[in-house]
Parts: sequence; structure tokens; C-alpha cells
Amino acid sequence: MKTVTCLLLHVFCFGLLPFCILASQSQTHHQDILQCLVSNSPSLSEVTYSPTNASYTPILEYSLVNQRFAKPETPKPLLIVTPKEESQIQTVIHCSKKHDIQMRIRGGGNDYEGLSYVSHVPFVLLDMINLRSIDVDTVAATAMVQSGATAGELYYAISQKSKTLSFTGPTFSSVGLAGFVGHGGYGALRRKYGLAADNIIDARIMDVNGRILDRKSMGEDLFWAIRGGGPASFGVILSWKIKLVSVPETVTIFTIKRTLEQNATDIVYKWQTVAPNLPNDAEVRIKAYPTKKGSNTRSPETVLMSESSTGPRSDTTVVVEFVGSYLGKADTLVSLMQERFPELNMKKEDCSEVSYIQSVLANSIYSPDQPLEVLLQRSTFKIPTKVKSAHVREPISKEGLHGIWEMLLKIENATNVVFTSFGGKLDDYSESSIPYPHRPGVLYMV
Ligand SMILES: Cc1cc2nc3c(=O)[nH]c(=O)nc-3n(C[C@H](O)[C@H](O)[C@H](O)COP(=O)(O)OP(=O)(O)OC[C@H]3O[C@@H](n4cnc5c(N)ncnc54)[C@H](O)[C@@H]3O)c2cc1C
Ligand SMILES: *[C@@H]1O[C@H](CO)[C@@H](O)[C@H](O)[C@H]1NC(C)=O
Ligand SMILES: *[C@@H]1O[C@H](CO)[C@@H](O)[C@H](O)[C@H]1NC(C)=O
Ligand SMILES: *[C@@H]1O[C@H](CO)[C@@H](O)[C@H](O)[C@H]1NC(C)=O
Repeated sequence: MKTVTCLLLHVFCFGLLPFCILASQSQTHHQDILQCLVSNSPSLSEVTYSPTNASYTPILEYSLVNQRFAKPETPKPLLIVTPKEESQIQTVIHCSKKHDIQMRIRGGGNDYEGLSYVSHVPFVLLDMINLRSIDVDTVAATAMVQSGATAGELYYAISQKSKTLSFTGPTFSSVGLAGFVGHGGYGALRRKYGLAADNIIDARIMDVNGRILDRKSMGEDLFWAIRGGGPASFGVILSWKIKLVSVPETVTIFTIKRTLEQNATDIVYKWQTVAPNLPNDAEVRIKAYPTKKGSNTRSPETVLMSESSTGPRSDTTVVVEFVGSYLGKADTLVSLMQERFPELNMKKEDCSEVSYIQSVLANSIYSPDQPLEVLLQRSTFKIPTKVKSAHVREPISKEGLHGIWEMLLKIENATNVVFTSFGGKLDDYSESSIPYPHRPGVLYMV
């Protein structure tokens, strides 16, 4: 069979020799590794997908978030494996090494550069989607979370057992916990409780030799590295043991919109020094995006999908949304903001008091009234984005802010700029306490 394929390739590809060699090599790799997998773990035949299998493309695309990597020319895996047991991962590692094939590990699939499902050398995709159990212990305030789970699945599982516990997870619920924790991970509770990686008690990881290690057996150096250093560099994260944190039953959420004509620049200028110094119970983020004048109601998500635009337009302005949450009552928040941040002119009408889990829905892409089950939707945000971040230690001048708005108005299909305030608990850790170094002195992230 292999010989026939090679012969055919040689006949048809005459003159396309480099392509031919590549094609026949990957054919060989594909057969060899498939045989290795199934002979070492027969049960793998039920969870291994070859490109010819009808489920291969749907499985590949299901957790493929960034549509920049959904093109036909994007390199595809030789095989996709969706293990249901940890022992199956041992075989995948063993066979990948034996046949000198790389492995890509995928959790939620949100990687900004597609690193969990693309490689330019032959690779097998280890998709953790079937390993996502969550075990919440409300008495100890901990949870064991398998690495294929998303933040939404975790928030949902906690909410089924407690109204006053949560995790320092992301705002977007479809983000995967392996990648999120493994890169640090900031969310709405960052100023109160720090990063996700600051709230990890233990981890189970499978190393390159297929050994399963916990915090004790891996040692503090490796445990340090996997909390912010990019976990795929070190092994396969199997599960995290996380610390749950206390939240009030009722919290306050708000969104206040100001256009450039409504002095948005002045308010953002002030925000830079106010937001990082608010009490830790308050967090205020900013989303700025272009919009048609007279209609400041479009959400950034709509703008992301919007029609093309060229050059600054006189009918267009920038709207700045001040979005946030407060672990307390609206009255307290409003008087706090009137005192510390009068330029924002927050009114009680700008605020809603909701249950904690409703604030989680609102911080993601849902409305607080939607059923909690929407948190279980994994594949919700399929957009072709390019994302860049910077950490700001000195306030940007008003001229600098104008420059940002000009870019938003000028660049074709510009989407948005998000400012996330830091400070609070984030400042309590040194730069080297985990690999994520943006600690004391960082005002916010752009
Ligand atoms: C819409 C959107 C919103 C976001 N919001 C936030 C936010 O609010 N806060 C924030 O901090 N970040 C945010 N991010 C960034 C996100 O946290 C990171 O991209 C994160 O790495 C995604 O994890 P994932 O499991 O979904 O991604 P994946 O693409 O599956 O994985 C990301 C990386 O982790 C590796 N990896 C995955 N699973 C494992 C495993 N089991 N063992 C070892 N390595 C593994 C992958 O190989 C890859 O290198 C957001 C991203 C998107 C697209
Ligand atoms: C596709 O792969 C799955 C998992 O290995 C297998 O169960 C299924 O039978 C395959 N389908 C076909 C048509 O080969
Ligand atoms: C904008 O600022 C100017 C000068 O401080 C002030 O007079 C004006 O009322 C402000 N406009 C709005 C909409 O707040
Ligand atoms: C802007 O979006 C339109 C519509 O999706 C697309 O045709 C065009 O190529 C985009 N331009 C750029 C520079 O990405």
C-alpha cells in the first residue's frame, strides 16, 4: 500500500520533486505513527482521526478560534487524537518521539498565533477536549480541573455548588484553562486576587517520558515554569488544582460610553492613574472603537465584523466604553467614583446589581439574563484577529491618546483597543514570583 502510494506520487509529481518528497514523507509518517499508536494502545483507534476520516475537519475546526489559521494553505495535522484517558497520552508521546514527529497540544484553541493546532513540520494534534472533568470542593474552596476544560465550564460548575465562590478566570468564557493559566491569565478578579497562575495549588503534568508528575515530584522549578511560561514547552498539563476565591452574592456591573466629542480623551487620561489605584474590589476596563457619529451603540463585537472602511471619515468618531465590575453595592460604587473619578460622572442608572454569576455572563459576551448554560458553549468567538499587548508604566499623554484614536479611524477594518487596569493584588507579587513579569509599577495593559 505504502509502495503503491509512493510510486503513484513519483509518477504524477515528476518535476515537482521537493513537493513529492514532502508528500511521500508525510504519507509514511502518517502510516507509521498510526500503526504505532494502535499497536501500543488499541483503544486509540476509537479516538484517532486521519485526514480521510469525515470527522477530521469538523474536529479540527471546532476549537480553531482564530480564522487566520482556517485557510486551506495552513498546515494540517497528520492525525488528530482526542484521548479519553491519560494513559492514551503516554502512547501519543511515545510514538511521536519514536517517529520524530512533533506534537501540538490543544485546550480551548484560543492561541492568538494558532500555536496549538499549526506547525510547519509534520505534527500530531493532541486535542484535550475529552479530558475536561471538574471537581469542586466548596469546603476546602478548591477544585480539580482537567486541562481540556474552558473557563465557562469551570464558572458553571462552581455556580452549581456555590453563589459566593469563583476563580480568577478570564472574562471570555470560551478561553481554555490550560492555556490561560499556563500564560498567567488575568480576568475581572485580577485586582482583588491576582492572576490565575497565582491561584494554583498543584498541577499534574505528563513529561516527555510519559511520567505523571505532581508539584512534589516535579519540583518547585518546573511548577514555577508551567504557571506563566507557556506550558507546552514543558509537557502536557493534565489538570490543575486551583484555589477558589470568595465573592459577594451580589455585585455591581456598569458600562459608560463617551465619544471623543464628550471629552473621552480627558476621561481616559485621568483613568490611567485613577483605575490602578482604586480599592481592589473595583475594576474598570476600557474598550475604544470607531463608530458612526450619532450611534454609539455598536458593540466591539459588531465592529469586529463590520464592513470595510478607508481613511479617517468625518462621519466617524471613537467611542470609549468604561466597563467594569465592583464586588459590592451600587451606592457604594457610585460615591467612590464620584469622589475619585468625577470626570466619569457615574450615575446609579449606569449600574446594575446582579448575582455574581450574572456578572460573569456580562463580562463575557452574554447578557446577565441569559441561561447559565451559555457558559458551556465552547466555540463562540470565531474571528480572524491579530492581537498585540503592551504594559504601560507611565501615563500616555493626551497627544498620544489622540494618536491612538487616529489610528483607529484611519486603519482599514480597525477593530478596537482595550485598556485593562492593573494594580491592587497584582502588585503584591515580585516580577519573578512566576514567569509572568508585569507586576508592581504596571498601571495597565493595552
Ligand atoms: C477571545 C479571546 C479572549 C481572551 N481573553 C483573555 C483574558 O481575558 N485574559 C487572558 O489572560 N487571556 C485572554 N486570552 C488569551 C488566552 O488566555 C490565551 O490565548 C490562552 O493561551 C488560551 O488558552 P486555550 O487553552 O484556549 O488555547 P490553546 O490554543 O488550546 O492553547 C494555548 C497554548 O497552550 C498550549 N496548551 C494548551 N493545552 C495544553 C496542555 N494541556 N498542556 C500543555 N500545553 C497546552 C498550546 O499548545 C498553546 O501553546 C483571550 C484570547 C481570546 C482569543
Ligand atoms: C473516523 O474515526 C473515528 C475515530 O477513530 C472512528 O470511530 C470512525 O469509525 C472513523 N470513521 C470512518 C468512516 O472511518
Ligand atoms: C468637556 O470639557 C469641557 C472643558 O472642561 C466642558 O466645558 C464640557 O462641558 C465638557 N463636555 C462634556 C460633554 O462633558
Ligand atoms: C476589510 O474587510 C473587507 C470585508 O471583510 C475585506 O474584503 C478587506 O480585504 C479587508 N481589508 C483589510 C486590509 O484587511
